[in-house]
Amino acid sequence: MSSSKNSAPSSPTRLSRRTVLGHIAVAAGALAMAKQRAVAQALQASGLAQAFRKDFRVGVAVSNQTLDQQIAPDLDLIAREFNSVTGENAMKWGVIRPDGFTWQWERADRLVDFARKHRMDLLGHTLVWHSQIPASVFVDADRKPLTRDALLARMREHIDTLVGRYKGRAWAWDVVNEAVDEDKGWRHSPWHDIIGDDFMEQAFRFAHAADPKARLLYNDYNMHNPGKLAFLANVLKDYKSRGVPIHGVGNQSHVGLTYPDLGQWERSIATYADMGLKVHITELDVDVLPPPANTGADVANNAAYSRQIDPWPDGLPDAVQEQLADRYETLFRILLRYRRSVERVTFWGLHDGVSWKNNFPVRGRTNYPLLFDRQMRPKPAYQRLMKLAGGKR
Ligand code: G3I
Repeated sequence: MSSSKNSAPSSPTRLSRRTVLGHIAVAAGALAMAKQRAVAQALQASGLAQAFRKDFRVGVAVSNQTLDQQIAPDLDLIAREFNSVTGENAMKWGVIRPDGFTWQWERADRLVDFARKHRMDLLGHTLVWHSQIPASVFVDADRKPLTRDALLARMREHIDTLVGRYKGRAWAWDVVNEAVDEDKGWRHSPWHDIIGDDFMEQAFRFAHAADPKARLLYNDYNMHNPGKLAFLANVLKDYKSRGVPIHGVGNQSHVGLTYPDLGQWERSIATYADMGLKVHITELDVDVLPPPANTGADVANNAAYSRQIDPWPDGLPDAVQEQLADRYETLFRILLRYRRSVERVTFWGLHDGVSWKNNFPVRGRTNYPLLFDRQMRPKPAYQRLMKLAGGKR
């Protein structure tokens, strides 16, 4: 007598068992994914981005080191506090194509994957910039300067490839960076001098063709400067009237405790908002140290070190900590008034220890420009912003 256990099972029974097992596996997978999403959302729910969720996105620049070494405490803090990420250096021409031509995708891919995993908006920085780009990009095989057409072709290939790779995954791009020279109009750079005034327009057209849904921004520092504002506002009005695909401006906002004049800073935001452009605060930090003569963000400039302009190597005095909190609160109060146009506010670095401001405009100082200290603890400025977000405005 053969028991049912030993009898050759009929194939329908075996199939249905498999199917059941299959369903269980799928359900378990879906459950795991849902759990992962819930954890990601719960983590985000506690931070700055959650606090300002009805106003604008809150982002952070992620360093190469964090991406290369996958520094877990950094990544956890980023996931908890922010809903938008920018590669501080990862997507710049000289970093993603160190010899000018060969692509090295790994680091940028990691950033894009991280943003996707945590449902963050990814900001691509930056496509066309005179800095951090190998000289080889601008010359031919005989080291002779490229013609306009040849350089346009190189620009197009770069934009097509980079924007194309992350199409549908990058929310916005800093298409052109720092093309205007304070009071002098277009900055002299190989891009401008070889192609001509329309190099910027061409870059926007190429980027739009590569990803028609991406937000496209012009990004610059000292946007409060009246000469820069007047020049750029004219250029952008002309672009809008001719249908050049530009959606907004990136106001970097590398500011200090006492500069710039916030009336001028607000005027710049208001001018672009009135033109129907979106405003992104793309690289916010507040330098607390005594400034040497030059306070711009042009990375070509660097001043000499002296102890006088590096007064707090062992910690920020409480009084200055308060000034920093006051300054951040004032800046955010202005931004909240423009929240219909301001889409994002990004801090240029995760914590004081990794800020570029420790090395600019003077190398080797101890600066305190961000919301998290060197131990990644929130500073009084952070608490002040959380209170502002939660309180009546
Ligand atoms: O890539 C090299 C690496 O090979 C080398 O080992 C290492 C040793 O120091 O240097 C690496 O290059 C550094 C690069 O960042 C990438 O990490 C440079 O020294 C360093 O000067 C460079 O600084 C960046 C700077 O842009 C360069 O232009 C800062 O981290 C970054 O915060 C800063 O960001 C710019 C924005 O993109 C545009 N707006 C202004 C802002 C501040 O300058």
